[in-house]
Amino acid sequence: MSEDLRGLLERSPGEFISGEDIARRLGISRAAVWKRVRSLRRRGYRIEGARGAGYRLIERPDSFEKADLLPLLSRPALWKDFLYYAVTDSTNSRAAELAEKGGVHGTVLCANAQTGGRGRMGRGWLSPPGVNVYLSILLRPPVEPARAPQLTLVAAVALAQAVEETCGVAAGLKWPNDLLLDGRKAAGILAEMSADPDRVRHVIVGVGLNVNMEAADFPEDLRERATSLRIRTGRTFRRAELVARFLDAFSRAYEGYLTGGFKSLWPEWKRRDILKGKPATVRLPAGDARGKILGVDGNGMLVFRRAGAARSEKIASGEIVGIGR
Ligand code: BTN
Repeated sequence: MSEDLRGLLERSPGEFISGEDIARRLGISRAAVWKRVRSLRRRGYRIEGARGAGYRLIERPDSFEKADLLPLLSRPALWKDFLYYAVTDSTNSRAAELAEKGGVHGTVLCANAQTGGRGRMGRGWLSPPGVNVYLSILLRPPVEPARAPQLTLVAAVALAQAVEETCGVAAGLKWPNDLLLDGRKAAGILAEMSADPDRVRHVIVGVGLNVNMEAADFPEDLRERATSLRIRTGRTFRRAELVARFLDAFSRAYEGYLTGGFKSLWPEWKRRDILKGKPATVRLPAGDARGKILGVDGNGMLVFRRAGAARSEKIASGEIVGIGR
């Protein structure tokens, strides 16, 4: 497996190792060494080959495959399986397929690029190769179906914690699924559930995080509203580091959620809530409603008072389509 060669080269970055030495240490032929070098190069590794000297690693791709993630995880117990796609249509779709075939709770699916990235409300999700994180986790949570939408908020809190820890900037949360930096969207979450009337079969939590994208990479109509960690901080980030911090934070948040419900994460949501107190328009099945957002309650529901109404109402699912000051 090319992992062996990769480990060998990564342990001596910049240093030549002779083909003969590699073949001996991996117990393979010289021809097999050459095949593995080619396979690593195809995956984005820059490996220099010099006659007489051997091979040396010049540059690693910014990859976030299982082998990149595992050493960085502090809380690996929840994560039972890792799948990685150089390109796929949508990690959420792959995860749903896997779930139907009996895929296990705690499977993580990552992609370097998506050709059919999906957002909420039937929208698409911009998913160019090499620069962002596209990830889905397959869960089989022991909760009733009515509580499953709270997992979107659990993931949003974990993502905010991971971004803040890695990048040192404050993240805002916009109910139910957006992460904002300086008022612009840097990440979104798409949770999809399959359930019987009284039992959740599975929940897929999909996360799209704009990491190293530059402003020019966004189509013009998105440029004003969208951002990335790089645009916000002027720095580039290792995607494996961000994914590992997110998986650690999610595993902690999920544990808290199963024992104490969303309430255990409520303070973490409230201190990042960018909507509280704002006039807004909410898109509901019956149509758009204008009013004021009073906050998010301890069950993860939006507390909203329609313009002219005396009482507030709680909204379990909807979309904020306009925010005032
Ligand atoms: C949104 O804000 O509308 C949610 C965006 C979710 C995008 C992620 S990227 C990984 C996963 N696969 C998808 O097709 N969508 C989610």
